[in-house]
Amino acid sequence: MTFVRFVVAILLLCFGFVSISTAGVPTRNKPDAEAGKDIWMQSCWQCHGRGAKGDGPAASALAKPVPSIKGLVTSETMPEFIATVREGRGAMPGYGDVLTKRDAKRVLIYVQTLDKPQKKKGGKNKAGPNKGRKSKAKGKKAPKGKVDLPPRPPKGEE
Ligand code: HEC
Repeated sequence: MTFVRFVVAILLLCFGFVSISTAGVPTRNKPDAEAGKDIWMQSCWQCHGRGAKGDGPAASALAKPVPSIKGLVTSETMPEFIATVREGRGAMPGYGDVLTKRDAKRVLIYVQTLDKPQKKKGGKNKAGPNKGRKSKAKGKKAPKGKVDLPPRPPKGEE
């Protein structure tokens, strides 16, 4: 388990820098879904996948598959999911120290928007922008010392 966690941490590190350019993007005054997308692209998609289907590049390194949460976010599940996001569960780290309840809700609101029919339909996007990156990432040596989870979003405001 420790090793798996280590590998995941490395993968997250490698994929993490993709989103560093969005780090520090203020969530203030953005519509919830947009602010939520920033958070998703920073901290969640690496495991959950861009479409929330549990097929992110780091998912395969986990002992248990990452569940698809696409279609699962409803007004009923929202409170429970907010708690899961903040407290963590299983292989998923908790984000309570960086995401306020409001931010957790925002990111889930974004996930909800994935359920709406997309403009481009049928485009399966087989060769996604990150195709083939995993193998590269796997062989990478860990940076000495600290290994962090994905870049955390900036501390949000209520
Ligand atoms: C390290 C990989 C990883 C990251 C990063 C991650 N998750 Fe998860 N997530 C998981 C796994 C694995 C589970 C399933 C946990 C279990 O039940 O054992 C999960 C479960 C969930 C669930 C609950 C699904 C259910 O049916 O109960 C939600 C909601 C969720 N994640 C949202 C998020 C959000 C939002 C983020 C970003 C802030 C995030 N996750 C980041 C791996 C991850």
